[in-house]
Amino acid sequence: IVVHEHDDIARLVAGRIAALIREKQSRGERAILGLATGSTPIGVYRELIRMHREEGLSFANVVTFNLDEYYPMAPDSIHSYHRYMWENLFSHIDVRPENVHIPEGMLPRDQVDAACAAYEAKIREVGGIDFQILGIGKTGHIGFNEPGSGVESRTRLVHLDAITRKDAAADFFGEENVPREALTMGVATILDAREIAILATGEHKAGIVRRAVEGEIDIEVAATFLQRHPATTFYVDDAAAADL
Ligand code: GLP
Repeated sequence: IVVHEHDDIARLVAGRIAALIREKQSRGERAILGLATGSTPIGVYRELIRMHREEGLSFANVVTFNLDEYYPMAPDSIHSYHRYMWENLFSHIDVRPENVHIPEGMLPRDQVDAACAAYEAKIREVGGIDFQILGIGKTGHIGFNEPGSGVESRTRLVHLDAITRKDAAADFFGEENVPREALTMGVATILDAREIAILATGEHKAGIVRRAVEGEIDIEVAATFLQRHPATTFYVDDAAAADL
């Protein structure tokens, strides 16, 4: 879906999420959402907050799983995805804290594998993700699935690509401060979601959007694996669609 105004992406995606939440609510079920960070989904979160305030959209029956977190990373750091999620969404809605899941960036290294397996188990236990939001990095990563991430990959600790660290440098006041590793859901974890919305805006994303949508499925570009998923929608603005 190509939109002219990037606010339209927020309205469309938030509208779809709200419909899912209400439909689940009417059946007495919980909606399981997979959430992303970065600048692109902020508009979606803003729109969801507006719907909560003005239309009474409740998140009391919503369970969330975030895609990723830097490692190591303290949850209260200004750079953490924990903090991002609370500031940009969770603090403004009625989600129950016990229903929020974000990979833990401060675990000792010897506990990381077990925590990643537990994250996968928790997603399975609640019946899997109904709706997954994704952004896309310059390397074509989804979550932090950098080049070389296989289609079978699951939640794990990964090394960040040099391009990704360079992209994050401004946020961290210098590349040397960007963590070298991160915890991320795997490609397989993401592909298990029943419905996926991947969002990209701006001319700097045009090249990777083209590669993701029109390129061959390639382990060097994780987003190309979405071509195999039966219910993925790519939302782009005119600038990000320029090379299609
Ligand atoms: C980070 C996140 C990704 C996100 C990407 C793009 O690398 N781990 O999940 O999609 O940034 O971010 P932005 O939306 O700011 O372009």
